[in-house]
This record gives sequence, C-alpha cells and structure tokens, in this order.
Amino acid sequence: MSSKIIAGVLASGRGSNFQSILDKISSGELSLQIGVVIADKADAYVLQRAAAAGIPAVVILRQDYSSKEAFEQALIECLQAHKVELLVLAGFMRILSSQVIRAFPEKIINIHPSLLPSFPGLQAQKQAIDYGAKYSGCTVHFVDEGMDSGPIIMQAIVEVAEDDNEASLAAKILEKEHEIFPRVLQLYVQGKIAVQGRQVKILK
Ligand code: GAR
Repeated sequence: MSSKIIAGVLASGRGSNFQSILDKISSGELSLQIGVVIADKADAYVLQRAAAAGIPAVVILRQDYSSKEAFEQALIECLQAHKVELLVLAGFMRILSSQVIRAFPEKIINIHPSLLPSFPGLQAQKQAIDYGAKYSGCTVHFVDEGMDSGPIIMQAIVEVAEDDNEASLAAKILEKEHEIFPRVLQLYVQGKIAVQGRQVKILK
C-alpha cells in the first residue's frame, strides 16, 4: 500500500473547512494524512477540532516574532518538522510571502468565499452583497504571491437572493466550500490536477 501525502493545515478560526476535510478522510473519500494544524490565533476553535481528532495542533503567533519573515520561518520549520508535503489554507487570514511559496512550490491550496477574481481579500461575502452581485460562490486555487490570485482549480456557484445578508450568503457559500475543498484535495492526491500557467486541468 502506498503511503499517503502528508498535509499541513493553516487556519485562523472556526475550522469548519478543516472539519469537512477530516470528515471525508474518516469516510474514506479523501486519502490524505493531516500531519499538523497550525493556527495563528491562540483561541482558534480549529485547535480543538484537531485535538479531538488526535492531530498535532500548534499555535504560532505573529506577535511573538519581530518580523513577518521570522514568523513565516517558524511556520516553515514547523511544517517541515511534520514532514508536510501539501499546505492547505483553510480559513487562514494572512497573505504568505514568497519565502513560504518557494518552500512549497505549487503545493499550497487555498479556499476563498467568492468567485475569483471577483471580491478577493477580506469580507468577500459582504463585498458581493454590497456590490449587488446576483451570483457568488467559492474558489479553490493554488496560492501564488498575490492576494487570492493563483490558478483556479475549482469553483462552485450560489445564487444571491434579494433578502440575503452577509451571514446568510456566507452560510450558503460555506456548504459549497465543504463540498469542493475535500474534492479538490482528493484530486490532488490522485495526481489528477495539471497546472500550466494559469490553466488548471482536471485529468480523467
Ligand atoms: C471560509 O469561508 C473561507 O473560505 C474563508 O474563511 C472562512 C473560514 O471558515 N477564507 C478566506 O476568506 C481566506 N481569504 P472555517 O474556519 O469555518 O473553515
């Protein structure tokens, strides 16, 4: 039996996407091992989810380091210590600089709650409501050095109803996030994601 790819998860909060990944691993639909979960907030609920699943959970706080570079070096060292081969950003609310991207080339995958390239950055669901978009959704993409700008792997669409607010739209989008993020990760571990420049193809 071949050994599983080891993923590291970076998260900042609640961790429902992380949970959806764990659930798919448990059900056998996702063949991935989670080596470590790192949170950049000491009270992030994702840490409790990791502990409950028996997965190493580590807190690395930006304020404990004198520079972004030193903070990211600590992230890299922790990920390497846990033999991480694939970096999964599951609600990680920081932009990673080139030193992390270089350490995991084409091996960092993020989920963002809008149909990129619309509404990158913070409060994507509020941006969609404020703009008056009729459709929104979520995007799973490779991470490059820009903000939510890397090659798109998969998207899912939701309709924005006239009475939707930020919270109701976020909830609708989250359901789709929980579907497509584990699906993309399984395609990744199966070697079915081919990237050429901005074009990502899903191999049969
Ligand atoms: C999710 O909606 C995710 O798409 C978003 O944060 C939420 C995390 O929820 N990520 C970003 O906005 C990244 N720019 P979760 O902690 O329950 O998975």
